[in-house]
Amino acid sequence: MTVISFFELQPYEREFFKTKLQGHHLIFEDKPLSERNAKRFKKSEILVIFILSKITKNVLEQLPNLKFITTMSSGFDHINLDEAKKKGIKVSRVPIYGQNTVAEHAFTLLQALNRHIVEAVRRTREGNFSYKDLLGRDLAKKTMGIIGTGHIGEYMVRYAKIFGMNVLAYDTFKRKDLAKELHFRYVSLHELYKKSDFISLHVPLNEKTYHLLDTLAFRQMKRGVLIINTGRGPLIDTKALLKALDSKKVGGAALDVLELETDLKKEAKLLQSLSTDKKRLLTLVENHKLLYRPNVIITPHLAFYTTEALKRIMQTTLTNIKGYLHKRYQNRVV
Ligand code: NAI
Repeated sequence: MTVISFFELQPYEREFFKTKLQGHHLIFEDKPLSERNAKRFKKSEILVIFILSKITKNVLEQLPNLKFITTMSSGFDHINLDEAKKKGIKVSRVPIYGQNTVAEHAFTLLQALNRHIVEAVRRTREGNFSYKDLLGRDLAKKTMGIIGTGHIGEYMVRYAKIFGMNVLAYDTFKRKDLAKELHFRYVSLHELYKKSDFISLHVPLNEKTYHLLDTLAFRQMKRGVLIINTGRGPLIDTKALLKALDSKKVGGAALDVLELETDLKKEAKLLQSLSTDKKRLLTLVENHKLLYRPNVIITPHLAFYTTEALKRIMQTTLTNIKGYLHKRYQNRVV
């Protein structure tokens, strides 16, 4: 019997794993795993987590029996992989579950921003049918800059093409066959910034992509460019984005992810502890400035959240757990 601890699950996910993993000792915790509550789960051999559970060195040190972590996400920047490796703990993820799912949301955000849908609906609900400041732009013949042409980026290219857009892409790994098939071009970041009317981010967060969009990047962009981020919050320097919005260099931003987005969710407690942590406090204030700007729309990191994608995530996570139990690892990161 293996002790498996699950974090951040929805009720239907609990039921799924209860049915599929009978005979094992399953522990369910609604809250994310953290340095504060980790000790309670010290018997765990397997952890099943989502992105709010930050797997730090300290967390790992409190879990002496841990052998395997599987995250119900494709991104794994919330796990300290070096520490896991040092301790011989294997890590798996769900590499593909919604390349279309996330790209569909990115495109929804793009058009909601471009056609001012949030503000328009707000007005009509108040009986105001004015067009003032709600002028949008055609997508056809405009240039879409896609940074990262992996699973999700590929679907962004496909959708942009359906709308009749020109596509410029940047990626360290160039999929030449795909570029030929879908008629898009790989260019330098500078050219992508200079020529794109819309820029969408689909790279993972790592030390190379942290603050990819910073002051210097915004400076090279076309005036009025719209920015879409469904990747990870820290791909964008929030302070630099606010400045670029103020100067109208950036015409608007649609964001499914924010820097330190978890802080926004537990704000009250945090404000007490933050007096000593100025950088975090500043980012929280900057996030608030973003939240209330008319040309910024924010969704709560839900690009993955569709019925179909959730089913795929649960199924792959089960495969990952069974893979560990039968010593045939699947979808390993380390
Ligand atoms: P992927 O691994 O298939 O593609 C990522 C692409 O980025 C690859 O082509 C890779 O070569 C490229 N890349 C990596 N480092 C780079 C760098 N420094 N410069 C330029 N290109 C670089 O990943 P996928 O499935 O397309 O997902 C992308 C990201 O989307 C994930 O890492 C995750 O952070 C985010 N995501 C967000 C979700 C949400 O709900 N908002 C849901 C799923 C993923």
